[in-house]
Parts: sequence; structure tokens; C-alpha cells
Amino acid sequence: EKGGFDFFMEKEIAEQPEALASTLSGHLENGRIVLDEQRLTDQDLRDVDKVFVVACGTAYNAGLLAKYAIEHWVRIPVEVELASEFRYRDPVLDRSTLVVAISQSGETADTLEAVRHAKEQNARVLAICNTNGAQIPRESDAVLYTHAGPEIGVASTKCFLAQIAAAYLVGLALAQARGTKYADEVAREFDAMEQMSAVIADVLTTMDPVRELARDLAKADTVLFIGRHVGYPVALEGALKLKELAYIHAEGFAAGELKHGPIALIEDGLPVIVVMPSREGRAVLHSKMVSNIREIQARGARTIVIAEADDEGAAAVADHLIVIPKTPTLLQPLVTTVPLQIFAATVAATRGYDVDKPRNLAKSVTVE
Ligand code: M6R
Repeated sequence: EKGGFDFFMEKEIAEQPEALASTLSGHLENGRIVLDEQRLTDQDLRDVDKVFVVACGTAYNAGLLAKYAIEHWVRIPVEVELASEFRYRDPVLDRSTLVVAISQSGETADTLEAVRHAKEQNARVLAICNTNGAQIPRESDAVLYTHAGPEIGVASTKCFLAQIAAAYLVGLALAQARGTKYADEVAREFDAMEQMSAVIADVLTTMDPVRELARDLAKADTVLFIGRHVGYPVALEGALKLKELAYIHAEGFAAGELKHGPIALIEDGLPVIVVMPSREGRAVLHSKMVSNIREIQARGARTIVIAEADDEGAAAVADHLIVIPKTPTLLQPLVTTVPLQIFAATVAATRGYDVDKPRNLAKSVTVE
């Protein structure tokens, strides 16, 4: 059942190339992005002038990434909100608001209630879900299924990557409806996403040094994660994986926030995992991150830097370097997440914990 792996989670990490490919498959037809259960008209999509993404946990982190892509491609504002906060805050919603609910299970109570609230306020609701016929897609106006296959491990892995891809498809569908991207540009973005399957497959074959590092750091009390731009949600996801699986205090920060407080946490030997911005795609952020690394090293941090191939700037400062292939900026999270998943799973296994069933957690949270 576990396909030769010790844990379902490891199997599910290994299945990510297929999860991504199946999620994208069939969604570009004659140069147009198609959704699954489309009960919204083209005009409805054209009228969307504001997007809210609502989700919990890992799905929320996927939603944060959606904001970067949708705002960039569609030029409409996107807010990302924890589903548990959304409806208690009287959000401003109307018929031209699209609420995108992301949920692997499609049964998460907070996300379902957020969907119901949005519908009561006449907003349009689109669900991104991995479970056919679950409650959230049933109550939504349109659905995009992530075809990641069943995810057994409590920690979400392949569904995270599939959710990112699905959310990007929503961005492309909106760009197409609102005319902010030509058909050939939409097709190019789609192809670039499709090519990421092979890239992730390659990354998966280079992860032994990450496992070694994880065994070495398994006794850490705290691990911090920092990122900028799309690396920031990845840092949050890396920290979430580590705390839920390894029961280690882990926090993710936007690196620019370090000086506003978190840098006070740095002490001798503290591991800090850095998700490096692309040197070519985000040169300014790259150099700011090199400075951040120097600042925390000067205070004793042990830096583990995930950086693109040929990133000499990162290689020169990192205490440990994890090299990933170069990708377009918005697609970088599909690869930078992989070492963080493997890191958390290996630390947890080294500490002797059940990687598939972490304490105190359930796969699907059906109470608020
Ligand atoms: O089924 P959902 O996607 O709605 O679940 C949301 C969260 O409960 C889930 O992502 C949780 O954070 C995972 N255990 C994280 O690995």
C-alpha cells in the first residue's frame, strides 16, 4: 500500500510530479482554460473585480501564493484570509466578488462556513478541492478539482502543490475572461506549469543531502524559516510542516520583518532555513536576502539556504546550501517546497514519531 515507502507521506511527496500533471490535465482546451463544474458564465468571470481566497493551514499557504499570481496576471486585488476569521469580520462582498475556497478534503468546517457566508452576501464562490462531491464543492458556483489522488498522511504535501497549480489556473481563467492575457500567453503559462512535473521529479532525486541535514538537526528546539515574495508562503509552509510533524517550535517570517522583531530570537547555533529569491527573476530581493543572511550569521545563526543552481551569491554565504533548478519566479514554490517537506518528514522520523499521524491532529477538521 505504501509502495515501498515507510510512510504514506513519503509516498505522497514522491507522487507530486503526477499530482501536478493530473491537476493540469484537460484544463487547456483550444487555447482556453476550462474549469470543472462551471456554473458561472464568462460574463460572471469578466465582472469579477475582487478576489478573496479563504482556506486553513496548508491550503491557506497555497492561497497566499495565489495572490502573487492572480494580482500579477489579472490586475485585480486579491485578499487571502484564514477561513476561521473571514465571516466574523464582516468582509465587504458583492456579486462581483469571487471567493475562492481551497480545501483538500472539501469538508473543513471553517472553510465551509466561509463559503456559506460568502453566498449569503451574493458573492460568487469557486472551490478548489481534492475530494469529488465533498460539501464545499457542492455548495460552490464552480469547482476546480485537484487530481492529486487520495492523501492519507495528515500533513498535506501533494495536495499543496496541486492547490497552487489549481489556483494559478483560476488566475489564468480570470485573465482570459477579463482580457489581461492573450490566448498565447495563457497557453505559455500553462505549458510552463506542465513542465514543472519533470523538474520536480528531478528535484526528488537530489534530496539525500536534505535528509542528512535533517538527521543532523533533529535535536533542534527551534527552527526559523525566512522567505521573500513567493518564498514567504513557502517559509510559512516549511514551518507548519516542521511543527505539525516533528513538534519543534518553528516559525516562518518574511525576511524583511526580521529587523522588526524576530531577529531578537537569533542566538548561537540557531538553524534558519532561507528560501532564496531567484537571482535573475528578483535581483533586488536576492541581494536583500544575502544581506539578511549576513545579519543573522553575525548573530550566530546556522543558515540552510535553498537557492537556484549557479547562485554564487547564496553559495558564498550559506552554511549549508540546497540547490534547486532555475524556474520562473511564480513556479519556484513548486520546487522549493519539496526539500522543506522532506526535511520535516525526516526530522520527525529521526525523532521516532509517526509521520502519517502526528499527535493531536486529524486529517479533516470538521468542527470549528
Ligand atoms: O482539507 P483542508 O485542505 O481544508 O485542510 C486544511 C488544513 O486542515 C490542512 O491543510 C492542515 O493544515 C494540514 N494538516 C497541514 O499539513
